[in-house]
Amino acid sequence: MYIFSKDWKRVKNIIVDMDKKEKILNEIWSEFNLSLKKGGHPFHIFSISTINNNKPDARNVVLRNVEKEKRLISFHTDLRSKKINQIKNDSNVCALFYDKDKKIQIRLRGIISIEKSKETILKKWNALKPMSKKCYINKCAPGEVIKNSKDYLFSKENIPDIESGKINFSIINIKIDEIDWLNLSHKGHERMIISFFKKETHFNWVAP
Ligand SMILES: Cc1cc2nc3c(=O)[nH]c(=O)nc-3n(C[C@H](O)[C@H](O)[C@H](O)COP(=O)(O)O)c2cc1C
Repeated sequence: MYIFSKDWKRVKNIIVDMDKKEKILNEIWSEFNLSLKKGGHPFHIFSISTINNNKPDARNVVLRNVEKEKRLISFHTDLRSKKINQIKNDSNVCALFYDKDKKIQIRLRGIISIEKSKETILKKWNALKPMSKKCYINKCAPGEVIKNSKDYLFSKENIPDIESGKINFSIINIKIDEIDWLNLSHKGHERMIISFFKKETHFNWVAP
């Protein structure tokens, strides 16, 4: 079919715009992946907000795994921490990333859950460095009231085997439903909402 040059320009603009949107999405995933390997990457640490008795609660965590195909990101935590009950009571989550140099904010909305596969948990635990395993052998649960600031530690003589921390180790997964991408620029800020519905991906520019 013959396309008039004016119409072709319009079609071309749509294609270019779609390319740009998909490029941005691909970049988001590659930066997430890069942060797993590159120390000091701005996406290595991110903030997650959960709901605690109808009130928001936020904290920083370390990005530990990224699975583009499943739209999944993960972090590790102590099963005894307060966020575990919040996750069990309300699976809605918001995660926030910021790249200071690129001036890019990424806000993710999705569903948070505790990893169920014992095999996956064991595999991750076995791959942890001893330094990381040490975080899970504290004698008190995170958030537990203690008399002195270091009372959560075992005394030097009583330090348990590092492997005993395994029972406190857990993986938390976030299944992403929506990505809110914001790029601050002197040429004009840009913001895009990327929504996922089953196998479909919807891109929408929004005012920043
Ligand atoms: C830079 C940084 C990285 C952190 N990484 C983690 C993490 O990966 N997992 C985690 O459970 N807590 C991490 N924490 C501690 C949490 O922010 C939080 O204090 C702790 O998990 C208790 O939170 P909760 O009471 O909401 O469960 C980190 C804190 C900082 C400052």
